[in-house]
Order: sequence, then structure tokens, then C-alpha cells
Amino acid sequence: LGREPKGHGLTSSQRATPLAHRRIRFEYPEGLDPLWSRRFPEFACAANGLSLMMPHVEPYVVKSVRAALDQLPPELAERTQAYLAQELAHHTQHHRFNELLRARYPGLARVERWMRVTYRWMHQHRSLRFGLAYAAGFEAVAYAAARWTESHMDELFRGAEPVPATLLLWHLAEEVEHKTVAFDVYEEAGGGRWLYAAGMVTSLVQMAWFALVAMWVMLYAEGRLFRPITHLRLVKWWLSFTFEVVPSMLASALPGHHPSGLSDPIWLTTWLRHYDPETATLPTLDGLVAE
Ligand SMILES: [Fe+2]
Ligand SMILES: [Fe+2]
Repeated sequence: LGREPKGHGLTSSQRATPLAHRRIRFEYPEGLDPLWSRRFPEFACAANGLSLMMPHVEPYVVKSVRAALDQLPPELAERTQAYLAQELAHHTQHHRFNELLRARYPGLARVERWMRVTYRWMHQHRSLRFGLAYAAGFEAVAYAAARWTESHMDELFRGAEPVPATLLLWHLAEEVEHKTVAFDVYEEAGGGRWLYAAGMVTSLVQMAWFALVAMWVMLYAEGRLFRPITHLRLVKWWLSFTFEVVPSMLASALPGHHPSGLSDPIWLTTWLRHYDPETATLPTLDGLVAE
């Protein structure tokens, strides 16, 4: 830290647009099925596995970035505060949804303990610089996940329960919105491509592994773990996700890359603009999720 101020790869209009803080709170209907996609319960289980992780991984990201806050130039510090507020809102809302998951799948308690121990260990034993590289890498993976989800939205969300679907899409849309911030903080702290790549790979492997284990627990409880169709679908999605995320990760690791150079998914970005601060709501997904 303490280097020359950087341009952070943003245009002046992007710098002038503050990150929004949306005071959104999701209310789940009584008796909501946590297996919220009837067409593709495997997808709901995979997304639920990621949801379970968020109150563990995102606080690690937040603590890492917050530790560098005092040493950032004012403009970046302001955007970083807004970024931290968005991340805090994400894992608060996932935590509430995860209560439904815990009630339905008691086996998830062990998986969650493992997640808690992992990120506590990372916080205590990894350097601040690694934490910042991890945060920047995590954001790159989240951005790729948002792009992949948008390109499969029609297939994956048809017939889904609107509130959990909205939770997931709101989170991904804000990941797109703040895609540059953790990268800029990491660059300000000295940057470095190899450590950034290591942070990105670590976050991807951890996310894939924990989501997989949590998904197995849920699929087993639902009696779906040993059905061939379950695995055919998962392999198909995993392959297409890999084709989205790997090129994006490779491009991100190239010298001179800045996340502002990546084009945003259009639907998510446009949908987020329709947030209503009066009611603290986003447009419902009824049209999207209709059978
Ligand atoms: Fe987030
Ligand atoms: Fe994020």
C-alpha cells in the first residue's frame, strides 16, 4: 500500500456512479420448498450449496478487504465501503435462506462446520495480501458465474419459486455491478498476477468442492443422489460452466487485464436498475419463471 494513486481502469463516468446500497429483504412464503426448482431440483441443490457457503466465504472476503481500507485513496475507499455493504447484505440474506435449508437437511450442519473452520483458518493463517488476491479472484469467479447463469436463465429458472430465484439473481447482478472493486484494492496493495491467479483458483476450487458436498447431502436426503439423470444434468452444466469460467479466468490473469474490460450481462444489469427504493424490492420474476 501507499503507492501512487491509480486510474483503476474505470472511465470518469463509471467512477462518478456510486455503487448502490439496496436495502432488500427477502420474505419466504410459509412452507416454501427449499428445493425451489421443480424442473431441475439438481440445480436448486447446487445453488443452495453455494448459498450455504456465502455466510462463510464472504465474511472472509469482507474482512480481508476491510483490513486494507484505511490505506486506500479516498475515492477507492468510498467505493470499497459501498462494496463491503453490498457483500454484507448478500451473506445476511443468504443466512436467512440457509435457515430453511438447515431445517430441511440436518446433515448440512457438518458441512457448514467444515466451511466455518476453513475460512476461520484462512483468516488467521493467510497474509493480508493473499486475502486481497482471494477477494479479487472470488469476484472474478462470481462474475463468470453471473454470465453463465444469465446465458442459461430461461432453461434454469422456468417454473422456479420466485423468491429464492430472486435472491440468487440479485446476488449475481450485484456481483457484476461491483466486479472491479476488490481487484482495484488488490492492485493498490501491490497486485501481482501469480498471486491473483492463485486466489482465483483457490476460490473456485473451494466453491466447487463445498457446493458439491452440500449438494450431495441434499440430493441424498431427497432420494435423488443415485439417479443417472441427476448426474447427466450436473455434468452437462458443469462442462458448460467450465467453458464460461476457464476462458474468463485465463483472460483475467493476463497482464494488463482489468475487470472493467469485461462486458456485463445485459439482463441482470438492466433488471437491477429497476430496484424500487420505496418498497425495497426488485421486479418479480413471474414472467421469467412462468411454466
Ligand atoms: Fe456477494
Ligand atoms: Fe462480490
